[in-house]
Amino acid sequence: MKFVSIVGARPQFVKLAPVSRALRRYHEEVIVHTGQHYDERLSGTFFSELGISAPDYNLGVGSGLHGAQTGEILAAIERVLLEVRPNGVIVFGDTNSTLAGALAAVKLHIPVAHVEAGLRSFDRRMPEEVNRVVTDHISARLFCPTRIACENAEHEGLAARVELVGDVMYDVLRQMEPQINARAATLLPSLTITPGGYALTTIHRAANTDDPVVMSQLIEGLNSLAMPVIFPVHPRTRKLLDQYGIALAAHVQAIEPVGYLDMLTLQRFAHRVVTDSGGVQKEAFLLGVPCITLRDTTEWVETVAVGWNVLVGSDPAALRMAFQRPAPAPVPPEANPYGDGAASEKIALSLRRWSGEL
Ligand code: UD1
Ligand code: UDP
Repeated sequence: MKFVSIVGARPQFVKLAPVSRALRRYHEEVIVHTGQHYDERLSGTFFSELGISAPDYNLGVGSGLHGAQTGEILAAIERVLLEVRPNGVIVFGDTNSTLAGALAAVKLHIPVAHVEAGLRSFDRRMPEEVNRVVTDHISARLFCPTRIACENAEHEGLAARVELVGDVMYDVLRQMEPQINARAATLLPSLTITPGGYALTTIHRAANTDDPVVMSQLIEGLNSLAMPVIFPVHPRTRKLLDQYGIALAAHVQAIEPVGYLDMLTLQRFAHRVVTDSGGVQKEAFLLGVPCITLRDTTEWVETVAVGWNVLVGSDPAALRMAFQRPAPAPVPPEANPYGDGAASEKIALSLRRWSGEL
């Protein structure tokens, strides 16, 4: 059977890597890159580092307002799908590329499988939440990473399409994990940091970057931490920090976005991870590093339930307090809510069974 995988933004390349590898054992795959992310450090580097086949199509859509970006992706994907005529389309996560890809396919009566389905923050002001809800409702197969994600979808009447497979980001993390120690030996000294002697932070969420007051509070919090902070800066955030004229303290080291292995390495040896990223909250937990999340809600609720993640919003005092918390008790592997690291294989096999019905 022939599937089209649609990706466009950094976290989707990470998710595509293990799924594509498993999928290609049983199916033909055509990769479409929408071009939502286009900087080498946010895009190309992930394809080479994670051994993903070069995209068969790059739609080159680029940045823009939500309507324009989503609309352009929709129109461009429709043309590709009419040409390729796949049996099914696979979309990942919750970006504008996810929504546009699913919508283009379903309008052409091509069934859609959603990888990382069922997640909810229950905050409809997040663009990602709207993308998740709509994508789930127009998808024929919902591959959920966790039991709670399945339940969310079931509560919305989607039970017949739901399948619990585990988290594909855990698959790729496990595949890369053996390389972390060797990479740390050169990466940490190059940043003049030591294991456990720094915090790692990322910020890019619209609610945190688009409001100068919120962004100032977040940076005030980081500036007040008594420890070096490594800050790989998303281009959106760099642009707005410059625009607002917000300065980082000397101990906060802004660097370019890093590759995937470097990001895992920096997380693994951090004293604390401080982030508003979805994927990073989960990776910190899977790597055994306490996370502090710069949001009021999260869709990765399991990390909070087991005590490895604390939500502090944008309050600098709450950040400092969370920073003092001791590390919680380890979660045994059999209680890992994100599965066993074999989600991609389950997805590929499920698509094989499903393709018999298409
Ligand atoms: C997008 C996703 C978000 C995801 C994030 C991962 C949506 C609505 N948002 O947010 O869910 O968590 O990707 O990183 O889909 N830019 C560059 N170079 C690039 C890409 C972007 O400079 O290669 C800058 C542009 O100024 C652009 C801004 O970043 O306007 C935002 O990019 P965009 O893709 O719209 O959203 P993200 O914030 O990256
Ligand atoms: N990531 C990376 N380099 C960076 C920042 C993030 O490789 O400089 C990885 C991170 O480890 C995770 C994914 O990108 O696998 C998360 O992407 P992001 O935070 O951009 O998006 P979100 O998960 O919030 O949608």
